[in-house]
Amino acid sequence: MTQPESVLLDVLGRHLSAVSARSVLTMGLARAHVDMQRPQPGDGRRLLHQIERGVRLYLADREAQDRCLRNVAHLLESHVEGQVEQQSRVSLPVNTEWDIVTVRSAGRSLCQQIGFSASFQVKVATAISELARNIVQYAGTGVIELATLATNPPGIEIVARDRGPGIPHLATVLSGEYRSRTGMGMGLRGTRNLVDQFEIKTAAGQGTEVVVRAFLT
Ligand SMILES: Nc1ncnc2c1ncn2[C@@H]1O[C@H](COP(=O)(O)OP(=O)(O)O)[C@@H](O)[C@H]1O
Ligand SMILES: [Mg+2]
Repeated sequence: MTQPESVLLDVLGRHLSAVSARSVLTMGLARAHVDMQRPQPGDGRRLLHQIERGVRLYLADREAQDRCLRNVAHLLESHVEGQVEQQSRVSLPVNTEWDIVTVRSAGRSLCQQIGFSASFQVKVATAISELARNIVQYAGTGVIELATLATNPPGIEIVARDRGPGIPHLATVLSGEYRSRTGMGMGLRGTRNLVDQFEIKTAAGQGTEVVVRAFLT
């Protein structure tokens, strides 16, 4: 039994007999498909729902049930969803060509962790490459933040931020009339077409922030 599981068992054991507590927990984890060592977005809510079914079965008194569930909910919030937050948002520096590779692969493994399909991973990795390459080429230095979105359907958010020269000719770039100097890759316009949400804030001399979100279809 993992550490978070035994803490949970402990809480349940304060309200139920040892045998019932163990059975409620085991059944809840199996039914909610939760691995407490690698909690995923939404796991806490799903597990609570399954534990609730058990608790309402084993405890007769409605008030006692609610008391128990309040404690469980509180614990899941800090132990499960808290961990998800930490695990699923990362901020990575982008300064060199090599950082592009690192960020790209971080995006891929984040996708894998939450069970996104191979084609979704390619989409995310491509968007990350384009944004990271622009930082290196035009701003020199910046960061990329990656986060999973516990939405329904689930998604991923990529934020590319730099304090470079900005993109004064943004409208032209996005219109498609713009001829890229390198002519390589999808560019900002291609990236926008690839994802579900695309926002860009840029100011001459102050920098650029691109926020991209893609959701599982
Ligand atoms: N982060 C950035 N900072 C400053 N300028 C940028 C940035 N990203 C893109 N640009 C400008 O926008 C143009 C278009 O970018 P993009 O669509 O990626 O095509 P490409 O990089 O192939 O030129 C770039 O040529 C550059 O002038
Ligand atoms: Mg580019």
